[in-house]
Parts: sequence; structure tokens; C-alpha cells
Amino acid sequence: MTKGKVDALLGIVFGDEGKGKVVDVFTPRYDVVARFAGGPNAGHTIIFEGKKFVLRSIPSGIFDEGKLNIIGNGCVIAPDLFMAEAQELESAGYDLRSRLHISKRAHLILPTHRVLDRAFEAAKGKNAVGTTGKGIGPTYSEKASRTGLRVGDILENFEAKYAALKARHEQQLRDLHYTDYDITEEEQRWLQGVEYMKNFQLTDSEAEINHLLDEGKSVLAEGAQGTMLDIDHGTYPFVSSSSTTTGGVCTGLGVGPNRIGEVFGIFKAYSTRVGAGPFPVELFDETGDRLREIGHEYGAVTGRNRRCGWIDLVALKYAIMVNGVTQLVMMKSDVLDGFDTIRACIAYEKDGQTTTEMPYDTEGWKAVYKDIKGWKQDLTAITSEAQFPQAFSDYIAFLEAELKTPITILSVGPDRAQTIMR
Ligand code: IMP
Repeated sequence: MTKGKVDALLGIVFGDEGKGKVVDVFTPRYDVVARFAGGPNAGHTIIFEGKKFVLRSIPSGIFDEGKLNIIGNGCVIAPDLFMAEAQELESAGYDLRSRLHISKRAHLILPTHRVLDRAFEAAKGKNAVGTTGKGIGPTYSEKASRTGLRVGDILENFEAKYAALKARHEQQLRDLHYTDYDITEEEQRWLQGVEYMKNFQLTDSEAEINHLLDEGKSVLAEGAQGTMLDIDHGTYPFVSSSSTTTGGVCTGLGVGPNRIGEVFGIFKAYSTRVGAGPFPVELFDETGDRLREIGHEYGAVTGRNRRCGWIDLVALKYAIMVNGVTQLVMMKSDVLDGFDTIRACIAYEKDGQTTTEMPYDTEGWKAVYKDIKGWKQDLTAITSEAQFPQAFSDYIAFLEAELKTPITILSVGPDRAQTIMR
């Protein structure tokens, strides 16, 4: 934690790195927790005081009384889903209204954006991205084409603005011959959600954050998705539509680069990906199934099977570079406990060509592996580095040498206590 700075906590591969658990360890150190990108396509599972919550749009600092939580301007927000998420927390006894601020500049996901998401996916056929169906792409497209609605719009003459945008979407859907949908009920809940959002402080959050930093407060920027799903740096076009990287922290919260302190990059001891797109380390065999089963690799938002594979050092090096990662956090090390041999992808290969740099077009590349001896020991009861099996220490040393970045936090099990700081 750095006073007067924004530290970033970012998934640096394909998301689902287990940020939820780490945020829970991190938040007590910070005054403010802010989301800067994405929306309800995220699903951060947090187990707090024995209860399980899946946060989609709300920052994870919400469980910690006394923390301010901000949904920043770079986010997109669906009022109906926000209302459901917030009401669940309110009925569990958490006070949200005084501690959750929403940027007036964040964009609104309309019910028709979700229909458009489905329509665009259907039109792409076998090239579909496999989106979460939450309307993310159409909402960010609309933001870029300067026709979207922002949270601040709900405060004035909203009905007319909403009706005009919805009518345009309906026309677009007719043009796509995508007419078999009914949003009547969904729209009612959505409009209720819009009213409900008025109970919260809708702010100029960039000014608010900068003033707090001037006062020496510390801010944690909580990432969503991962670097390889970033609109610029991911495996385009199989990406999400926001800036999930450190650059996105600056634009998505309205802070200058000189405000950024530490950049924590989270990754798993192996790889997963949800949805379509290149994934050179993907395992289609029993080992992949074994990783999925032991690691419980099923999507938090969609319930889909996650694609599984060995750790990808090409992707990690790239992500460390584009994010300026200063410290690494390795999750789910214990999932590899039973393997005799662990593999790490050290390069990609295609048509006799080998590269250790992330290629422009990741399609068709195959992973080149280095085999590493497994530790074959249960890590879950370990509480300090002194108890690490030698082979596990060797694995960490290998990763740090390759990635040229220290791994300062290691997770060896789902519980908060199963976290080792180095
Ligand atoms: P979208 O963000 O719903 O448009 O989906 C675009 C791609 O990003 C799809 O491959 C999704 O599966 C993936 N994606 C979006 N959000 C997440 C996430 O939170 N974790 C992992 N994958 C995600």
C-alpha cells in the first residue's frame, strides 16, 4: 500500500485468477477500493464471514465498513443487475448507500444492448467470441461512437433519452433480422434499477479520487477480466471491450500515470480461459480435465467449463511488460500438488518458427514446454515459506528468473489463511 497513490490489482492472463480472495486480503490496507473497467461480465467470488457473495459491479471493499468504494468512469453498469447485487448485500446487513459512489460518467448497459450482444454473436456464427451476454461489447461500442447513455443521464429527462436510444437499437435489431426477443419484464426491472441507483451518490469520481489522493489516502484499483482480454493488448478479436490493464486504471478512474504506485499482477499456477479464441497451452486430454476438476474451473458468471492448460510464460512476460507489473501474486499453487511433472510454456511455435514474444496473431501457435519436477506434497497446510517443499521453491525460483519480477504473495488454498506473504 502506498499513501497518496493508486495501487492496481490486475488479473494478467484471461481473468478468473482468483482476485476475489486476494482483494479480501488487500482491502484492509486501503482507504478506497475502485473498479475502473468492465461491468457485470465480471464475477468476483468472495467468501466473507462464512457467506458466499459473487460481486459483479460492486468493488470488493464493500465488506469492510469504513472503506469508500467507487465504480469508476471506465465501467459499464446494468441498473437491474446492479440493483439485484446491491440488494443482496443490503439484506445481508451491509450498508452500501453511504459507502458506494458511482461515476456519473460510467456508461449504462440497456436491455437492448444485451439483445444486440446476442444478435452480434449469432451473426458471427462459428467466429462468435463467446461473450458473457451482458451487453458489454455493444455498450462500449456505443461509448466510442458517442451515442451512449451515462449514469449522469438518469438525473434529467431520462425517459426521452432512453426511448430514443432504445428505438435506435430496435431498428438495428430489425436490420439484423433479430426480432425474436421480448424484454418487457427485463425492462421493468431495469427501469426500477434506474430509480434505485438514485439512492446512491452519483459523483464526478475522478475529482473525488484525486482529492482523496491529495489528502494522502490510498486507493486500490480492482481489475476485472485480464490482460489477454484487453481491447488493445488481448487476443483480438477474442477479447472483452474495455481496457483491463494499468493504462485502463488511468483512463477508467481519471488519474495521471504519476499517481500509480504498485502494480500487482495476479496469475494462476496454471492457465484457464473462458469463451472462444486462441489458447496455445490448452490441454484437450485427461490432464486438462484434471486441472478443471481440482481447480473447480467453471465460470462464475456463465457456469461454462473453463478451458485449462499449463502456465504460459509468453503471455505472462507480455502482461508484465504492458502493465508495468511490480509484484506478482500466484494463485492456486495447491492445484498442482498431485502432478509428477509440471509443464511451463516457454515459447510458441508455428511453421518451424519459434517466438518468446506475444505474436500479433496468436491463432495457430503451439506451446513449447519445459518440464519441471512436481513437488507431490500437500501445500494447503503450509503457513510459511520455510515449510515449502524443495521442488516448489525451485518452481518459484524458476518463474521469478523467467519473469524477472518477484512473486510476493502465494495462495495455497481457498481460505484467507492459506495465503503466504514473502
Ligand atoms: P464480454 O466481456 O462479455 O464481451 O466477453 C468477451 C470475452 O471475454 C469472452 O471470451 C468472455 O468469456 C471473456 N470474459 C469476460 N469477462 C470475463 C471474466 O470476468 N473472466 C473471464 N473471462 C471473461
